[in-house]
Amino acid sequence: MQHRRQFIKLVSIGSAALATGCTSNTSGTAPATEGGAIRGGSNGPLVLSTWKHGRPANAKAWEILSAGGDVLDAVEQGVAVVESDFTNRSVGLGGMPDRDGHVTLDACIQDHEGRAGAVAFVQRFEHPISIARAVMERTPHVMLVGAGAERWALENGFSPRDVDVPEVKTRWLEWLKKGDYKPVVNIENHDTIGMVAMDAQGRLAGSCTTSGLAFKIHGRVGDSPIIGAGLFVDGEAGAACATGVGELVIRTAGSHTVVELMRQGMEPTEACKEAVRRIMRQNKDMTDKQVGFLAIRADGAYGGWSVYNGFDFALRTNERDELVATGYDRTWE
Ligand code: GLY
Repeated sequence: MQHRRQFIKLVSIGSAALATGCTSNTSGTAPATEGGAIRGGSNGPLVLSTWKHGRPANAKAWEILSAGGDVLDAVEQGVAVVESDFTNRSVGLGGMPDRDGHVTLDACIQDHEGRAGAVAFVQRFEHPISIARAVMERTPHVMLVGAGAERWALENGFSPRDVDVPEVKTRWLEWLKKGDYKPVVNIENHDTIGMVAMDAQGRLAGSCTTSGLAFKIHGRVGDSPIIGAGLFVDGEAGAACATGVGELVIRTAGSHTVVELMRQGMEPTEACKEAVRRIMRQNKDMTDKQVGFLAIRADGAYGGWSVYNGFDFALRTNERDELVATGYDRTWE
């Protein structure tokens, strides 16, 4: 990890200079640095997760990492906290249903050696992230979906459960009156949790879990369980995760793009920005379509970027424990 420590020293100087330009705001979110870019490096463990719900996820991941635990345990158990929060409407069994009224879940996990596991279109299991990890560790496959994934989970010690959330049912019944399929930017109906983390030895891992777009077509799967789209980890280059409209991320292999750009030496923030801009070049009409990326480079530098303002990520390092606003290309009202 000599290489990482040397790099961190350089980046820390840059970060301090950038941080000087920061002012506090009233939302409780640390602002993006001048020009919207975030750069940094961290000595010791590092955890980034999407959105405000990343705070409790990071707290759990940090508990594991700061005790010298496994980075894969940290990213699994971190996002599992949010899966168990049935007040969350974009992750886990409390999430918004598809247009037929079913809550269907997608998740994936990957470690620094590139091992990966994923499940998609899974119903009635509280922790799809743990099933994804079990697929990675106990099968020769990467991804199981739908009824096959549910059967395999049952056979391998996972218990289904029914979670009745009256608010979700009411919102679905309300939606059915019009049946108008229209995702809304930054409203917590499609925001997933993606987490990327590094332990004190520089080992990387990532996880991603979601209930997907609200009122999606039954059977729709987004980017979150797709290795290379919602998440990509390469121990030699870095780790990235995505949030937002999954179709746009899949079409550009978004997280893989970010990691490959970092492999070529790009700063994490610049890599995320370029991945966002590829999406914007490919899609002339980005109205109501948010996408954001977070990344950690293998040397400990980190960053993020999004199409629109309003994308916050939870950051945990030895020095920082806060919500940070990423830089962005467009503003929306
Ligand atoms: N990014 C989550 C989804 O599109 O399902």
